[in-house]
Amino acid sequence: MTVTITVNGADHSLDIDPATPLLYVLRDDLELNGAKYGCGLGQCGACTVHIDGKPAFSCLTPIGAVAGRRIRTVEGLGSAEAPGLLQQAFEKEQAAQCGYCIAGMLMRAQALLDRNPDPDEVQIRAHMQTNLCRCGTHMRILRAIRRAVAMRKGVHSAQEVRP
Ligand code: FES
Ligand code: FES
Repeated sequence: MTVTITVNGADHSLDIDPATPLLYVLRDDLELNGAKYGCGLGQCGACTVHIDGKPAFSCLTPIGAVAGRRIRTVEGLGSAEAPGLLQQAFEKEQAAQCGYCIAGMLMRAQALLDRNPDPDEVQIRAHMQTNLCRCGTHMRILRAIRRAVAMRKGVHSAQEVRP
């Protein structure tokens, strides 16, 4: 069957089994390799993308369920040449170790900042708890999110982004 999806503002029509996971389509058909396959079970968040502005596990989302909906991937946040604010903050805090979880972390965090530009520490931690980092860089990831909040407010001192 033909399924049309909108990813990072571009429409794509695919002749595909509607049960195919969105993650496979992004990576194998559209060559958007930011989202990662971690568990395939909705337990790690490495595959997180936005569907209509909400974070979702693309490993569990059949492509047929997202026809006509807005999908945003980490590639839609910025590029190596022009990183988005959250990406800049992750880089400043050296949040990545192996980097496998980072696209999912960025998309999860971006969904929070899109709906609440000034979350407190409790809100950040509650929102991020679905995403796991096997390297254990959670504290740096949390610092990076706080830094992005501070950068948006025009506060740049590392001291000021600590909770
Ligand atoms: S790969 Fe989707 S939640 Fe782990
Ligand atoms: S940086 Fe390696 S899994 Fe998070």
